[in-house]
Amino acid sequence: MAYAAITGWGKCLPPAVLTNADLATFLDTSDDWIRTRTGMRERRISHVPAIDMAAVASARALACAGLGAQELDLIVYGSCSSDEQVPNSASGVQVRLGAHNAGAMDINTACTSFLYGLSAAGAMVRSGVVRNALVIGVELISPYMDWDNRNVSVLFGDGAAAVVLQSSESELGVLGEHLGCFADARQTLRVRGMGCSYANQGVQYGDTLWDFDGQEIFRRAVKGMAQATEKALARCGIATDQIDLMVPHQANLRIIESVAKYAGVPMDKVFLTVERYGNMSAATVPVALVEALEAGRVKPGATILMPGFGGGLTVCSHVVRWGDRVTPIGHSAAELPPNERTALEMVNAIRAQRVNRSASERGLMAPRFAEAGLLQGLGTGSGA
Ligand code: UT7
Repeated sequence: MAYAAITGWGKCLPPAVLTNADLATFLDTSDDWIRTRTGMRERRISHVPAIDMAAVASARALACAGLGAQELDLIVYGSCSSDEQVPNSASGVQVRLGAHNAGAMDINTACTSFLYGLSAAGAMVRSGVVRNALVIGVELISPYMDWDNRNVSVLFGDGAAAVVLQSSESELGVLGEHLGCFADARQTLRVRGMGCSYANQGVQYGDTLWDFDGQEIFRRAVKGMAQATEKALARCGIATDQIDLMVPHQANLRIIESVAKYAGVPMDKVFLTVERYGNMSAATVPVALVEALEAGRVKPGATILMPGFGGGLTVCSHVVRWGDRVTPIGHSAAELPPNERTALEMVNAIRAQRVNRSASERGLMAPRFAEAGLLQGLGTGSGA
């Protein structure tokens, strides 16, 4: 039987830092509120397209694995903020890497896109469809953030990371996983303005409104990640006390603490990045995994738990067995181009571009396919 070992890892964080104090220059908010309610102090704002961040993270992951780009059979690009819908973004990474022998596909399950991608690519490696795969989690949320809505704009940041999966005869990689979705709550997190329903409605790029029921998402996230973890552990017959490290989705410190408590994992076994990067959606778990390795928190042979949730509301949990190697084989020289502007300058430029019209004038309340119940039926009933 083949397994899908994680043999390479790399991250790419844009350098510009947006602090809580920066947010308080244009929002009715405070460092104290954001820190106590979310655990966040700062997040990153990208000066480049998402594919650029993904390509740098991928080049670093390949060098870490000691694998040539031509040896890749598959690229999975996990994201809900692709630079374009067509062509897909994985193909853009393929071009950048020169990975001419790889298939290339995008996966969007919002914040769980990397973890769902890990499942898809892992299954293909285990079944022999491919031998070497790259799985990316990347997000460029800042251009379509509704910056003047304090309920959401303090929570998110940009970033990217990637891992290399390679076929292995040793029992490594994902040993057990569970994927689920609370589709009855899909209306709790919706970005109006993105997608074909808004095409030719007078909606401009980045002109968005966020529907966001933070408290309901919070409740579902805790319940969903706890349940998914129980099922993932049961599937591979691993007990909670065998978990060496938990690397969860980092949307809110209080959510992480609750999930750890339900799962029975002490907080000193939980790796946190939420304070420095906020919620980078699909990039959050892989960035945290890379930083856990860099910090020496992943020991050879470690068993790692990775619970996640996101829009949909998708939930999942993965149990991963690490190999002997916890240091990179090689390093890539890939870097982002230099950045001239501060994060606050970039955010204020996005805010200035946002169109100052009512939601209905902007076409955001009247999507083309509303009658199908997909957008205004709030996701309930058969139309969902
Ligand atoms: O990956 C999926 C992404 N989604 C999430 O992760 C969301 C999960 N939910 C959460 O993390 C939390 O629900 C939030 C952090 C979003 C909100 O925390 P909360 O403790 O549930 O606060 P709340 O929504 O109950 O709001 C409490 C108060 C409200 O004021 P009133 O009505 O009590 O006067 C809000 O208007 O805090 C106010 N508030 C803020 N105040 C200062 C909301 N956002 C802010 C803000 N700064 N940024």
